[in-house]
Amino acid sequence: MTKFLIKNKKENCNFYDCVSLGIFKSKEIIGINMLENFSDQKFLFNIIKSKKEFWKIGNVSEFYYRSNNIFVNFLLVGCGKKNEITLSNYIEICKLVSKHFKNTAIKNISFFVSELNVLNINSYLKVRLAIEIVQDSLYSFNLFKEKYIKNNKKKIFFFKSKRDSDVETGIEHGTVISEGVRLSKNLSNMPPNIGNSYFLSKEAKKLSKQFKNINVTLIKEDEMQDLNMNAYLAVGKGSKNESIMSVIEYNKNSEQLRPIVLVGKGLTFDSGGISIKPSNKMDEMKYDMCGAACVYGLMYISASLKLPIHVIGIMACCENMPSGNSYRPGDVVQTMSGKTVEVINTDAEGRLVLCDVLTYVKRFNPEIVIDIATLTGACVVALGNQYHGLMSNDDELVKEILIASNQTKDEVWRLPISKEFNKKLQSNFADMSNSESGYSGGASIAGCFLSNFTKEYRWAHLDIAGTAWNSGIQKSATGRPLYLLTQFLLNYSKKIIF
Ligand code: BES
Ligand code: MN
Ligand code: ZN
Repeated sequence: MTKFLIKNKKENCNFYDCVSLGIFKSKEIIGINMLENFSDQKFLFNIIKSKKEFWKIGNVSEFYYRSNNIFVNFLLVGCGKKNEITLSNYIEICKLVSKHFKNTAIKNISFFVSELNVLNINSYLKVRLAIEIVQDSLYSFNLFKEKYIKNNKKKIFFFKSKRDSDVETGIEHGTVISEGVRLSKNLSNMPPNIGNSYFLSKEAKKLSKQFKNINVTLIKEDEMQDLNMNAYLAVGKGSKNESIMSVIEYNKNSEQLRPIVLVGKGLTFDSGGISIKPSNKMDEMKYDMCGAACVYGLMYISASLKLPIHVIGIMACCENMPSGNSYRPGDVVQTMSGKTVEVINTDAEGRLVLCDVLTYVKRFNPEIVIDIATLTGACVVALGNQYHGLMSNDDELVKEILIASNQTKDEVWRLPISKEFNKKLQSNFADMSNSESGYSGGASIAGCFLSNFTKEYRWAHLDIAGTAWNSGIQKSATGRPLYLLTQFLLNYSKKIIF
């Protein structure tokens, strides 16, 4: 495990295996003040002079220094113009340096970033984000590999000046959030033959053993039947793996506070069902449970940080498979709300699972409901891999989410869900259909479908189809939108020193 520590005194060069230093256009060097026995500033200035525009963000180079008794690796990092570093610049700098930390065997590292002035950001958030970025880049999923490169135990030192009172909190929060992200990524990356609904419910149960104020209730198929969750049940019918909804409640008795309810789409595998998907990239549909994995991480983080709020997280898990027992295109199902749905496409399964859960959560008298779902390929077409799609029936809630997004650069973009989209969901045989026939506006139409079930509370929907994982050789869960929603919960808790 990588450790993050604070230094408030100067230290001998040799204490570190790598000293990272920031370079400004003004040729000022950040971090150098924290070295006790380094007097050869000329060496550094000569290097800086040797390359044009060394100071530009994006430039990172390593130099080995040796003289008398000093042996040290310097990592020189372009930081742009002093006093003009934006949060996005800062994040880019942290990412570049983190990559370097990952690829070398160095152990003790001085990390100068707590010394940088970043516009509108305090040292708490600076340190927290740096830790989140370092841990994100050091992550790998090795559970099923016999041979892999073990991450050596690194120690990363931040510097603290007298006026930074909140660096400790930054380290504490950054460490907890990174651990929540790691656990969440592990669930997402799990192969679908192992990471089924049962497995995820066991993981949820573990949280209740770990934290006194977490209770977990499992709703299995027979209880779903009693509850009339027929849309949810229909989706899981074709699979041998039972559908299980894990309800994770944190801080139930917190002064009778109305809860924030988080609902995660948890399709442990989405083959498309009878409306089967093409085989190209179908493996990636193990990630169709990233919403549920995000909820898991949020519950871990809320309990670890002892947030003074009442949170209920639901992992809505099942598997969408083709078989003789599958639901079919043409089927009509009655949802828990009473409304009926004609199934046009069995691959539009996420909204069927979610609509029943969104009805179920009314019993909690929620303050806010946020669902997180890898819901539509159309959202990927619209927003790519940078932005989560955000749809909501509440402008204030949207504002709050945008604030959290701005603080973390875990970015969202709002999409419309006006009633016009409902027309595309008209059915001759039921109250609505589950899918449009055309190809336009798919993310909004799915959001609109859900909005028919969320009229009684403040609700937001995050479509994370494009943002929850990376494809290709980088194939892995991203941990998003955990950063965004953790910040949202922190702000909501008003616990944050910002
Ligand atoms: N899980 C998928 C959405 C998805 C597709 C996420 C590709 C990430 C990458 C979802 O269940 C789905 O299949 N949606 C359909 C909806 C359509 C049938 C209306 C889609 O997007 O094609
Ligand atoms: Mn699908
Ligand atoms: Zn799906």
